[in-house]
Amino acid sequence: MERTLSIVKPEAVEGGHIGDILSRFEGAGLKVVAAKLTRLDKQRAESFYAVHRERPFFNSLTDYMSKGAIFVSVLEGDGAIARNREIMGATDPAKAAPGTIRKDWGTNVEANAVHGSDAPETAAEEIAFFFAADEIQSPTV
Ligand code: CMP
Repeated sequence: MERTLSIVKPEAVEGGHIGDILSRFEGAGLKVVAAKLTRLDKQRAESFYAVHRERPFFNSLTDYMSKGAIFVSVLEGDGAIARNREIMGATDPAKAAPGTIRKDWGTNVEANAVHGSDAPETAAEEIAFFFAADEIQSPTV
């Protein structure tokens, strides 16, 4: 069982697509085990995307990510990281496959509807960035 961090980015929250996107996750067999609506200030956005600090798009990306509310969740399932990346689609919505989240609700490479962790180490770091351990609940019936 694996966990990954998902962010619904500001334009997709503003556009009212949180529910649509959660349906895609659940439809793909991923369980939502933590979730919250929050907002990053510029400094927290820079910290979250620190790995991209040297990239030319860093300033614009962190401005964008701090401009509005985001919906952050932890998704759990077998191969959750790869499965989430598959249903998100390519980083650039123009290149994303039909039926993917970024194709359906992304606007451009920056406002691309969702972020998802890319590896187990980054997933662990990104989950801890937003959630305390006791805010994550695996479903039990
Ligand atoms: P995300 O999954 O949030 O992780 C890093 C983000 O950088 C990525 O999605 C894109 O939104 C953004 N990004 C990647 N490449 C570019 C680019 N060439 N121009 C602007 N933003 C980019």
